[in-house]
Amino acid sequence: MLLLLLSFVAPGYIVTGAGASCACSPVTIPVHVDVLVPKNQTDLFAGLKSNASDLRPVKAAYNISGTFCEPQQDSPHKGKDVVQILVHGFSYTSEYWSPPMQEFRNYSYADFSCQRGLASLALDVLGAGLSSRPINSSDVQYPTASAAVSQIARCLKTGSVAPGVPRFKTIVGIGHSAGSALLNYGAIVEAAHSPFAGLVLTSALSVILDFSSLVSARDVDPLRWGALDPGYLAIGVRTGFYAPDPSTFSPRMLQLDEFTQNVGSVGLAVGIHHTLLETGYTGHVAKVVGSQDQILCVGNSRCNDVAALTAHEVALWPLAQSFEVVVQEGSGHDLNLDFLALGPFNTFVRLVEEFSRN
Ligand SMILES: *[C@@H]1O[C@H](CO)[C@@H](O)[C@H](O)[C@H]1NC(C)=O
Ligand SMILES: *[C@@H]1O[C@H](CO)[C@@H](O)[C@H](O)[C@H]1NC(C)=O
Ligand SMILES: *[C@@H]1O[C@H](CO)[C@@H](O)[C@H](O)[C@H]1NC(C)=O
Ligand SMILES: *[C@@H]1O[C@H](CO)[C@@H](O)[C@H](O)[C@H]1NC(C)=O
Ligand SMILES: *[C@@H]1O[C@H](CO)[C@@H](O)[C@H](O)[C@H]1NC(C)=O
Repeated sequence: MLLLLLSFVAPGYIVTGAGASCACSPVTIPVHVDVLVPKNQTDLFAGLKSNASDLRPVKAAYNISGTFCEPQQDSPHKGKDVVQILVHGFSYTSEYWSPPMQEFRNYSYADFSCQRGLASLALDVLGAGLSSRPINSSDVQYPTASAAVSQIARCLKTGSVAPGVPRFKTIVGIGHSAGSALLNYGAIVEAAHSPFAGLVLTSALSVILDFSSLVSARDVDPLRWGALDPGYLAIGVRTGFYAPDPSTFSPRMLQLDEFTQNVGSVGLAVGIHHTLLETGYTGHVAKVVGSQDQILCVGNSRCNDVAALTAHEVALWPLAQSFEVVVQEGSGHDLNLDFLALGPFNTFVRLVEEFSRN
């Protein structure tokens, strides 16, 4: 158990993959945000439907941490002009895209996609992981967190993210759960001006969610989070992130998940319902969800009929260049962390390649 914890706190890793055809390094990216957030943190639509008097400005400088991975010179794939921005979900960190244990090395989507020639930048969302965590959780809302990610996407296009990170022509965003909602928020606000050529929104559907199981992080783990504003939340019981059938995932993965869980804010939970609003986004969009997702699919028939689900979801993306829904048979909410992860990984790579072909 001690080893588990130690491997979690190690700040970064340099090389992944058996052939070392891929190099990863930690980056810290300074951003400045200047946005309006709802005064009421529990606003369902993250301020998008609020009157001006119900909004307040947040002007702030933050550091966003992440891991940048790229294929090496000797890789046949080197030289592609595409980078993926990977955005984790609620109470996770960028390590969702690269779980830090030997046993789980092949659960790393960052590594999997890098072996196939795709660079990635996995970010810690504002308030999570090693990124800035504002003292007041009410500053961590979709407008602030999304502005940080969009700014980084723009910097990737000009090659100004961090030393050693080159310029990329095409940016594809891949989100998981609340990370998908974060990309969705940016798509609503920036519409045709979005820096993203395409979005792969995993484990996120336009539905009403119940957040009654979220508790203040300081109550979940006083040792780690005792000093945090109570508006920072955690999720103590994590089995809901996996399929109901326990033979579909490693018990050690669930354990790792519990040990390495992180925090999110009230605003990033409740404000997720902005995903019920229409976007004017004009790039490519795909939604990928597991048929055994206990948060979105199990206990209802929503994910049984892909055509009906697609019709429901596409209605909110009327200007998208393309739109697709993929239901991954057997996968749970955390598509990347169970024994079926290879299926979703291949889907993500296929979509990124389609989106960057234009
Ligand atoms: C904040 O919004 C929630 C949900 O919309 C509402 O129930 C609550 O009364 C609001 N709080 C304040 C102080 O306006
Ligand atoms: C915005 O203001 C209008 C007019 O003052 C009011 O009718 C409406 O309910 C307000 N909307 C919200 C979301 O507060
Ligand atoms: C960002 O990190 C740099 C280097 O550690 C530090 O000097 C700076 O104060 C940080 N900025 C913020 C807003 O935390
Ligand atoms: C957090 O910020 C909000 C909005 O400025 C303010 O109303 C609230 O009192 C602050 N909370 C704390 C604990 O400072
Ligand atoms: C990881 O390796 C195991 C054992 O070879 C295999 O069963 C599993 O499908 C692999 N998972 C991924 C995501 O590649």
